[in-house]
Amino acid sequence: MWSVLFILLPISLLAKSSFITPMEYSSSLYKNPRGIGCYKCHGEAGEGKLVAKYEHKKEQKFFIGPPINSIDFNQFYRALNVRKNGMPRYFLTEGEIKALYFYLQEKKKGSGANVK
Ligand code: HEC
Repeated sequence: MWSVLFILLPISLLAKSSFITPMEYSSSLYKNPRGIGCYKCHGEAGEGKLVAKYEHKKEQKFFIGPPINSIDFNQFYRALNVRKNGMPRYFLTEGEIKALYFYLQEKKKGSGANVK
């Protein structure tokens, strides 16, 4: 419960000042995080995605964005603060990372499904 509040509070404050709901704010961040949208590699709801198939030395290879909607917040946070293979470095603030995490959890629950 604590952790939910911890995540929601700053987002709702942010959202209030710009007249959008927390879900709208975090959804737009997921799609346009000052860089390539997360959904392009991780899917609309962070369910993971096959981005490309290619051949390397006659071997079929896949470029896959792993699912990111079932990991805990610490793992999520850490992943966004280290260099990842195949993923751009974003330099997001802590609040933005929380918003992204919030978005994926809400999507998974099915709430805010109407937010595009
Ligand atoms: C160009 C494709 C691409 C984009 C865009 C992208 N990612 Fe990733 N992401 C990856 C790949 C590939 C990995 C796996 C990296 C590895 O295994 O080292 C990954 C890993 C992750 C992980 C770690 C998953 C785990 O199981 O530990 C998280 C969290 C994550 N991405 C979140 C995001 C978020 C949030 C965004 C948007 C701000 C984003 N990614 C944008 C390709 C991408």
